[in-house]
This record gives sequence, structure tokens and C-alpha cells, in this order.
Amino acid sequence: MFSQKFFTKAAIAFATATTIIACNPATESPDSTTESTARETPDSAITIGVGVAQTSNVALLGQEQVIGAKLAETYFNDNGGINGTPLAIALQDVAGDEQGAINAFNTLINQDKVVGIVGPTLSQQAFAADPIANRAQIPVLGPSNTAQGIPQIGEFIGRVSAPVAVVAPNAVKQALKIDPNIKKVAVFYAQNDAFSKSETETFQQTVQDFSLDLVTVQKFQTTDTDFQSQVTTAINLTPDLVIISGLAADGGNLVKQLRELGYDKLIIGGNGLNTSNIFPVCQAKCDGVLIAQAYSPELENEINTAFRTAYVNENKSDPPQFSAQAFTGVQVFVEALKALDAKTPIKDLPLPELRIQLRDEIFAGTYITPLGEISFTEEGELVQKQFYVAQIKMDESGENGSFKFLE
Ligand code: ALA
Repeated sequence: MFSQKFFTKAAIAFATATTIIACNPATESPDSTTESTARETPDSAITIGVGVAQTSNVALLGQEQVIGAKLAETYFNDNGGINGTPLAIALQDVAGDEQGAINAFNTLINQDKVVGIVGPTLSQQAFAADPIANRAQIPVLGPSNTAQGIPQIGEFIGRVSAPVAVVAPNAVKQALKIDPNIKKVAVFYAQNDAFSKSETETFQQTVQDFSLDLVTVQKFQTTDTDFQSQVTTAINLTPDLVIISGLAADGGNLVKQLRELGYDKLIIGGNGLNTSNIFPVCQAKCDGVLIAQAYSPELENEINTAFRTAYVNENKSDPPQFSAQAFTGVQVFVEALKALDAKTPIKDLPLPELRIQLRDEIFAGTYITPLGEISFTEEGELVQKQFYVAQIKMDESGENGSFKFLE
């Protein structure tokens, strides 16, 4: 319902995003009360919080999200903002753990006075920080939280990242297409990470559904760098397929050590490995890893073309899933704010009331995004139609690589 309005360009041209943030009283006035309205002066920006990982190993994923969110800020301001009012994103670093996410969310809510939050990066962080936003009645859209149970945290919590249960099985199907003789499967997962635990359950169920033999389940920690003992145990069982649920640094090192110790068959990496930032970790040994995708740069619609073009201009490569999802998270806030504003001018709404009405508007909408058409269940779960599988292709030097989308 918002897609038609979305492409109508407003006549107003805005200053750069930097200027908008600088003149935004909501970010400059930490002492203003929650009774304030979202716009404190007629020309001030509406602030959307973005809490993702900018430091720690989790920044391997989070830095792609920052790029996506910033591109969305620029794009939507260039296209009329929120019915003529500019938007600004307030960025806070959730770093790599639960406390980082809690701190960032508290700052976004109490100091930056955001209308809602796109974040955090990890499901592990969402289970700690989202309840704070939910209690404060702030809508949250997880840009990459794929564990089971995220929307169920509370009525203000949704996500634009499709859950493991609908994404992960696609990779196993693709592996069987490439090698129909796969029989024995070894599974690895990070036992200290909520998403990895959830994703491995889906993978293990999928292995069972395809009547494959699950020969071993090996556990590790996202902080581990040495996987020799688990890899040796798995290799001795001669698997035809290895499936890894972990994050980028640990996952990349595990891929590397599997190859170094002689495993030469297919590897599936889960969503935590879905970034070109693993290339410097496993280098040439990343080659061939299969990863299911919730985004394809090739998707044909107007917003994806605009997003892809802007991303390629800045980064000289196609956009990754984490950037596309962060862009989408900001887009959903913008379109829901526009729709709400058309019914009730949001400048007149006190911030707490705006946040409540925005929550209802977000989950009632249908959006044409870089991920394709999306909507939400009443619970805030994402409804998305298209998924893909890509295979990593590295050159022999191991310095350059890309994700090749498979049929
Ligand atoms: N998809 C990963 C998670 O949910 C990043 O934590």
C-alpha cells in the first residue's frame, strides 16, 4: 500500500545527511524529556536509531549494516524525506556483546530520542536489548537477527531478516543439487551464540528431512581460533558435507582449518559467515563455500536498482545481504512514518504516542524493498518471498573473491 506513494519524489531538496544530523535538536539535546514531540522545530529531522556493531569481531557484519543504513538516509532524504521532513539516523555501536547492545539501546532511547530502532546485529544481543525497547514502547526492527523467537520478545519487536527456518534449508537443497551423492554430514556450531544454536537446529532438522546421516555435531565458541580437535574428529568420520553455524571470524577460521587438514568436499556456511569480510580470514580456502541468501543484487525493482547503484558507486562491488537488510529496516521506518503522518501529522504527536502508533503502522504495511515485497505477521515476523544461494569464488591468490549466485 505504501509502494505507490514511495516513488513520488517531493520537490524539496535537502542538505547532506551530515548537515541534517548536525542540526537535529533531538541528537543535540540529551536532556529533553520523553514528552517532547519527535520534531522540536519545524525544520528539524526525525531521528531513526541504528544500533549495530561498529567495533569487535561482530563489526565484520555490522560495518556492512552501517553502509546500508547511511545509503538509506541519503536516498530517502533525496526523495522527499518523511513527507517533506528530513530524516536522520542516530548511529550507536552495539559492539560484540549483550552489554554493548543494552548500552547502545539505552542511549538511542533516552538520549537520541529516536522514534524507533534498527538493530542490533546479533540475535544474542537482541534477546538482551530488545526487552528494554519493548518495555519503553519503542518499535525495533532487527536487521540481521535470524534466530527463532526474535519477534516473540515483545509486541514492539519485529525484523526484516528472515529467520533461519526459512533461509538455511535452501543451502542444503543446493548442496544436494551440486552433489546428489551426499550421504554423511558433519555439523559444527558455536554453542555460546543464540543465533548459531538456533540455526544448527534448523540445519540438523533439514539433514534429517533429507534422510542424510548426521555423523557428528561439533561445538565451538565464537571466540575460538583453534578448531583442530573438532576438525580432526569430523574428518575421521569422512563426511560428504560440512555445515557451519557460527560468526564471521570463527567461521572463517574453521573453514580454513577444515581445508588445511584435508577436508575437500562441500561446506555450507550459515548466515553469520555471509560477508566478504571472511575473505581475509580464510582467503583462497573460502572458495566453494555455499551460503543461503535473503538478498540478491539482481532483484529487479526500482528501489533495488537505486540501492544497488548507490552501493556500487561507493564501494565498487555489489551490495551484500547485511547492507540490503539495514537499508530495508530504515526504509520500513520511513514508509511507515509517511503513512502515519498522512493520517495524523506526526509533528503534533508526543514522542511516546508517535512510537506506539508507528509500531502499529509498521506491522500493518506492505513494502517493496531491495529484498522484494515484504510484510509482517501480527507478531512482527517477516514475510518475505525470495531466497537464493550463493557460492564463494576466490581467485588463487586468495585476495579477491565474490559471491556467485546459483540457479
Ligand atoms: N544472523 C545472525 C544473528 O542472528 C547475525 O545473530
